[in-house]
Amino acid sequence: MYVLHIDVTDRKYPIYIQRGILSDLGKRIPKTYSKQKIAVITDDLLKEIYGDQIEKSLQEAGFLTKILSIEPGERSKSLETAAFLYDELLDFGINREDRILTFGGGVVGDLGGFVASTFLRGIPFIQFPTTLLAQVDSSIGGKMAVNLKQGKNLVGSFYHPQLVLIDPDLLQTLDKKYFRDGLAEVIKYGAIRDEDLFFRLLDRYDSEEDLLSDMEFIIYRCCGIKKEIVEKDERDKGERMLLNFGHTIGHGIERAFHYERYTHGEAVAIGMHEITKRSERMGETKPGTSEEIRKILIKYRLPYQIPDLDKKEFLKHIQHDKKALGEEMHVVLLEEIGKGYIQPIKREAIQKYVMD
Ligand SMILES: NC(=O)c1ccc[n+]([C@@H]2O[C@H](COP(=O)([O-])OP(=O)(O)OC[C@H]3O[C@@H](n4cnc5c(N)ncnc54)[C@H](O)[C@@H]3O)[C@@H](O)[C@H]2O)c1
Repeated sequence: MYVLHIDVTDRKYPIYIQRGILSDLGKRIPKTYSKQKIAVITDDLLKEIYGDQIEKSLQEAGFLTKILSIEPGERSKSLETAAFLYDELLDFGINREDRILTFGGGVVGDLGGFVASTFLRGIPFIQFPTTLLAQVDSSIGGKMAVNLKQGKNLVGSFYHPQLVLIDPDLLQTLDKKYFRDGLAEVIKYGAIRDEDLFFRLLDRYDSEEDLLSDMEFIIYRCCGIKKEIVEKDERDKGERMLLNFGHTIGHGIERAFHYERYTHGEAVAIGMHEITKRSERMGETKPGTSEEIRKILIKYRLPYQIPDLDKKEFLKHIQHDKKALGEEMHVVLLEEIGKGYIQPIKREAIQKYVMD
């Protein structure tokens, strides 16, 4: 088992990473009074696979339990679904001494955490991320949100869980498409902060089984990097931008194809390679770095080239990124593998980093 402690302004909490930790769920959650309630927020697919096991484990530990299940998918990350969950929590009679457990990918985590942060002005909650992306990224850092029809994550809060439990064995039931998506983020951590992790991913692991058997360690390294960055920049005003490596081009591609042709991870994969290819040409990155990125993306069957697209539209999407500040933008570049940095640039200068 690996353990990390997140230390942010108003909270300190542990992350436990252990294969098989799900079978110990009830025992892992501190119980503070008898008949304490836990509302489990999950989705229909996960409920089908793990619902009985979760309920049994929590009940055996003496918790009163109710499973609240939503439809899987991004569309559920909405105010409407939040309202449905508030109703269910009221029905169950949850109070501030009780707990919410979010069991799912980034959608369930973001939505469930948002509900936990707002219901009765805040219910303590536990994150149990079940996709690789949620295990290495969205379950750490306290960003909770729902989408509006005008855009993603437009309503939200910063709210940290009491505890994060990560069971890499759950990845065995995850669809390959989502697994690869998470791998793009894992590769990103190696690229910006951890040369050893990057080359371990590139040189070891001949099969998926091999990779899965080392997942406890891989997740631990990624969470460690996110912890370090989040602790320095809790509110996303500076260093946290490093985590956006590959995202400038990635977001442009996602938008240009209306979020349909590429998953987030695929778009980020292309973004990491393409921006590094250009920064290398400009002499800002060590020669050969983009080739290492290309090799690792090929190994993990992720795309690395910008597809044919409407260049004007693509550039417009990038220049109007909601994270751009006035006339200044930031791009994340690599000095070399393992050394990412944030480069402020003028808005007009973005073109040479994202297009030929
Ligand atoms: N809060 C943050 O800091 C942060 C960071 C990155 C991404 N996000 C958010 O994360 C969301 C995407 O999350 P995601 O990629 O985890 O997708 P997701 O939550 O939609 O899950 C993908 C699918 O996998 C299924 N699933 C999940 N775990 C499974 C398992 N172990 N076995 C079988 N099926 C399983 C789900 O039912 C779902 O159908 C986006 O909304 C994004 O905005 C948030």
